[in-house]
Amino acid sequence: MNQAKANDVLVATLDNLLDYAQFHFSLEEKLLLKHSYTHTEDHVRQHGCYLKEIKIYRAMIKDGVTHVDNRPITVDLWKFLKDWLVNHIKTEDMTYRDYFIRKGVISKNDDFFLPFSGDNESASG
Ligand SMILES: [Fe+2]
Repeated sequence: MNQAKANDVLVATLDNLLDYAQFHFSLEEKLLLKHSYTHTEDHVRQHGCYLKEIKIYRAMIKDGVTHVDNRPITVDLWKFLKDWLVNHIKTEDMTYRDYFIRKGVISKNDDFFLPFSGDNESASG
């Protein structure tokens, strides 16, 4: 696969990631607001930073950028995505999960991602 084709695939992948992230964050933010999570503002800000960063990578790759500081841009992108998963989902999202358990919104045995299916009543309103 040539570089231009590889960049096209990467841009399309980032578009899919952005679509899903916006869908997921929207549901998550509705839940945080609905249940008056105390750190909602900071959590929403983190989501915004994530989306902004992905859009920056997408724009650079779309413009044909392949390296940053002599490293393949995919190395930096992968590190960013991995760090996000570890730091945000495993730490920040688990913090509001614990809050939801304390408030009785979910139980310890609930599938944490069930509220994000899009058709769960707890995600509406
Ligand atoms: Fe989150």
